[in-house]
Amino acid sequence: MDAQFWINAWNEGRTKFHQEEYHQKLTEYFPTLHPKKGQSVLVPLCGKSKDLLWLHDLKLNVRGVELHHDAVESFFSENKLSPMQKLQDQDFTHYSYENIVISCGDFFKINENNAYDFVYDRASLVALPFEMRKNYAEVIKRSLKVGGKYLLIVYEYDQSKLEGPPFSVSSEEIQELYKDQFLIKHLSSDTVTKNGDRPSTVEGLRQVVYLLEKVN
Ligand SMILES: C[S@@+](CC[C@H](N)C(=O)[O-])C[C@H]1O[C@@H](n2cnc3c(N)ncnc32)[C@H](O)[C@@H]1O
Repeated sequence: MDAQFWINAWNEGRTKFHQEEYHQKLTEYFPTLHPKKGQSVLVPLCGKSKDLLWLHDLKLNVRGVELHHDAVESFFSENKLSPMQKLQDQDFTHYSYENIVISCGDFFKINENNAYDFVYDRASLVALPFEMRKNYAEVIKRSLKVGGKYLLIVYEYDQSKLEGPPFSVSSEEIQELYKDQFLIKHLSSDTVTKNGDRPSTVEGLRQVVYLLEKVN
């Protein structure tokens, strides 16, 4: 699943993963983490997700990371957030408005230690094939502060029934990826009914939510 796959997806308008509503699991669970004004949240592989706005409204410092410029620019223009500032460094173009910064570039180049209080992951870990998920988890692990919390939403299904993305990520894999540094709590598991979205066509597909707390 190289960068070109996603660049083509955006160029060709294959972005059905995008939701016009705030994610119901975000609005249900994030408040239970007791976020405070001025704390920081990392939103990896953020696309043009409306969830960034919901987090912004909590007065958090929101940092999205997204590969495709059109996705980032659409986020600001579709939500009428202007003026937007643009800053370039070696690896990223940073777009910002008030307390939101979206860094456009390759998430695997993020090199920040203990920088965030929260991570919000919807359609991000599951966007990557198995062989990339370990490296992804390493970036998450170093970015989050000790004591930081990670709200993770994944899909679980029979991988032979659908070619990802989104990929199926099992609870065993989540343990394998994160158990060395996180306490992992299962929050919910729901069977997804057909809703026009490609993954929902798979019989028995479940949306599973975890809360991970970084303990070392
Ligand atoms: C399935 S979409 C999910 C977007 C968003 N999380 C949401 O809920 O709408 C995955 C996104 O990850 C982006 N992406 C894929 N690989 C990336 C990488 N290495 N660095 C940054 N973004 C990446 C894609 O361009 C795409 O917008």
